[in-house]
Amino acid sequence: MFFSIMQNPMIFKTFELIVFQASFLNLVFIGKQGVGKGTYAQRLKTEFGIPQISTGDLLREEIKSGSELGKKLEAIMNSGSLVPDEIVIKMFEKRIQQGDAEKGFILDGFPRTENQAKTLDSLMKKTRKKIDLVLNFIAPDKVLLERLTGRRQCRQCGTIYHIKNVRPKIDGICDKCSGQLYQRDDDKEEAIRKRWGLYEKQTKPVLSFYKKQKKIVEIDASKEVSEIYPNIIKTLKSKKIIG
Ligand code: AP5
Repeated sequence: MFFSIMQNPMIFKTFELIVFQASFLNLVFIGKQGVGKGTYAQRLKTEFGIPQISTGDLLREEIKSGSELGKKLEAIMNSGSLVPDEIVIKMFEKRIQQGDAEKGFILDGFPRTENQAKTLDSLMKKTRKKIDLVLNFIAPDKVLLERLTGRRQCRQCGTIYHIKNVRPKIDGICDKCSGQLYQRDDDKEEAIRKRWGLYEKQTKPVLSFYKKQKKIVEIDASKEVSEIYPNIIKTLKSKKIIG
């Protein structure tokens, strides 16, 4: 019975539409390190109840576990280098297949190489999903350096703060879970400049990849969070990704 109904092209189209609508808001956040991808993703996640998938956070979790792989990752990440594609892709594939990503996701820090972008594309096709929009955040280096050197993150829940711009109510303590705030080892100027260099070389081609697909919008991220976040929402509405 079901199969004979599905052979009707009109009904099949409607069914397909419902499936796509059920998995709404599949976003990619891209931009130079320190531009605020994690900050805006965490807010969007809270407002829309869809997960923020940060490959940086996944990798840091592995380090926290104390595994052999974690020890290798720690050395790579602290130096500001990129983690090899095969490791990141494997972790990402495992994470995106978890149930909470069914209704949508915000990819923060993935894809970061052309190879990762192609892998994501084929994964989307295989699971009959699509990336709705790629938001490319832009701000000058001087602003980014100040943001990264002042960044603090919660050891427990990963919430991001800044010593001047996004302060917790009590210094050094997370507002959400009372966890301790710490400074990331790769937020030192030498590692930051190395990460920016890799961004130019390896992540810029990802922008061209999505430009060809006409999926990119640029967001001016040089302003305050209180101005940028409403602008993200406005952009999503203007593209009819949210109502
Ligand atoms: P990851 O954790 O992804 O770090 P990143 O790419 O270096 O990006 P950041 O987290 O530094 O920047 P962000 O844009 O999220 O800024 P945030 O919101 O925190 O990756 C870490 C490492 O893991 C990589 O170097 C690599 O080794 C590895 N890795 C991860 N993914 C990988 C992949 N796909 N392939 C290979 N390797 C991978 O904001 C920064 C600060 O600014 C905060 O303090 C925040 O409070 C503040 N702030 C934000 N917005 C504003 C604003 N508008 N005004 C004032 N302050 C602001």
